[in-house]
Amino acid sequence: MRQFGGPISSLLYLLLALSTRNQAGRILVYPVDGSHWLNMDILLRELHERGHALTVIRSSTSWYVPEHAVHYSSITVTTSHASNLEDREYMAAFLKRNIEIQRGEGSMLSFIALQKEILNLLTEAHKASAEMVGDILENRTLVQSLRDARYDIILTDPGFAGGVVLGHYLKLPMVLNVRWITNGEGHFAIAPSPLSYIPTIGSQVSDQMTFVNKLKNVLHFGIGLYIDHFITRPLYQGAVSKFIDRNANVYTLIQGADLWLMRVDFAFEFPRPTMPNVVYMGGFQCKPSKPLPADLEQFVESSGEYGVVVMSLGTLLGSLPPEISDVIASAFARLPQKVVWRNLGKRPSTLGNNTLIVDWLPQNDLLGHPKTKVFVTHGGTNGIYEAIYHGVPMLGLPLIFDQFDNMVRLNARGVARSMTVTALDVDTLTQALRDLLDEKKPYRQNMRKLSHLHRDQPLQPLDRAIFWLEFVIRHKGAAHLRTESYKMPWYAYHNVDVMATFLGFVGAIILLFTITLRALCKAMCQKRQKAKLQ
Ligand SMILES: *[C@@H]1O[C@H](CO)[C@@H](O)[C@H](O)[C@H]1NC(C)=O
Ligand SMILES: *[C@@H]1O[C@H](CO)[C@@H](O)[C@H](O)[C@H]1NC(C)=O
Repeated sequence: MRQFGGPISSLLYLLLALSTRNQAGRILVYPVDGSHWLNMDILLRELHERGHALTVIRSSTSWYVPEHAVHYSSITVTTSHASNLEDREYMAAFLKRNIEIQRGEGSMLSFIALQKEILNLLTEAHKASAEMVGDILENRTLVQSLRDARYDIILTDPGFAGGVVLGHYLKLPMVLNVRWITNGEGHFAIAPSPLSYIPTIGSQVSDQMTFVNKLKNVLHFGIGLYIDHFITRPLYQGAVSKFIDRNANVYTLIQGADLWLMRVDFAFEFPRPTMPNVVYMGGFQCKPSKPLPADLEQFVESSGEYGVVVMSLGTLLGSLPPEISDVIASAFARLPQKVVWRNLGKRPSTLGNNTLIVDWLPQNDLLGHPKTKVFVTHGGTNGIYEAIYHGVPMLGLPLIFDQFDNMVRLNARGVARSMTVTALDVDTLTQALRDLLDEKKPYRQNMRKLSHLHRDQPLQPLDRAIFWLEFVIRHKGAAHLRTESYKMPWYAYHNVDVMATFLGFVGAIILLFTITLRALCKAMCQKRQKAKLQ
């Protein structure tokens, strides 16, 4: 299974690469910091390998994007507006408040409180992004040097839209590395998205919705509209009006991108309508595993026939509150498996002697190890795709943002169990882990199937992404793949004007018909009466 289809697809790729003789391009990169940077960097390394020259715009407050790297040069923009999304301490406090709110019983009140927390966080981060691009555009020397560099394209992540604004200002063909845009999931901005079967972020519903699910879905769609109209558009409008067009807004600028490299694969995402300028590269970060460091390999091998459980909660969220960690540690201690746990918090008091705590782990190499049986995750997409690639079932402990929705997708495929962090107890957690480890239960089998589906593609996702990105460089954009529908007013998009005309026409005919009929009737009746009288 591990190298399934590998040689054929590399051959295909080689042929493609030869037939299209890539010209090295000059690419301006405007990333989003934090965990988004990790997957952007994977694209950048591949682009560098293929001879493109990369320039990365970063803020002086960036925690993740290095100023110096072998595979790109950078432009550092001095800014005082740090985004709190990159700040580990802030995020730890944010997570703690989230967990406290989720624990709070009154569900409607806690729902509102939670939404408020998230909106505050988003507002601050968008504000930082808008101010940074404003600072760049105000700096005439910097703008002139960006013009003089004559870039071929801009590659950006529209989760925060600074890069989109700059790209439009410089009139560069735009390639997006995207799943999220400023107010929700990317497809919603360009492809038809009926809310009857396409779940919105936050709704935590699958593609098969009950009536109540649909209500929930529409409610969350409404929250997305609210964010767009009352938070993100106004925050970026200053820069958009001043430097681009007073009639434009950040949402239409995003819709005008040439190519959407979507971090989505339909082994994971529910099927939905799409567009010709969307290219799917979900799982592009996945690669075969490498051997583990000697001491870790020894620990993993010592698990014998039982195998190991791997737990990690991602880059941003290193640790959980101690009382929750203790519950997890107790459940792990009851298993015959060995456990490797990335935990930056206090050492749990109930830790079993089968559990190894580490502050970093080679996640892809561990997931690809034949002894790894279950992955305990917060439900971030990087880890999920790696687990799908290597065929490892998951136990989800979603904490914030899209993580709950991601787990809904995995549950629908029957490859994962998901638990509420605030309501964990040792018995149910142990049972869930045992179920996932049990060969007689369907999880492992389902996951193997899903992994085969994900890997059975003519081109590897990363190769496909690079091909299309270079396509945009070669053809100076991809306008022929993009509809102009986003420029229509809403009533024209939904044909309301046509329907109204049509209904008016039909109405007029019916009205005319009725009036004539009445008049005729009256005339006839009068005639008859006259006849009777005579
Ligand atoms: C403008 O950009 C130039 C070049 O990057 C930089 O040296 C300068 O400090 C910037 N000026 C301001 C006011 O930020
Ligand atoms: C680990 O703990 C179990 C149960 O408490 C015990 O039976 C076993 O001997 C311990 N193993 C080691 C290597 O200490």
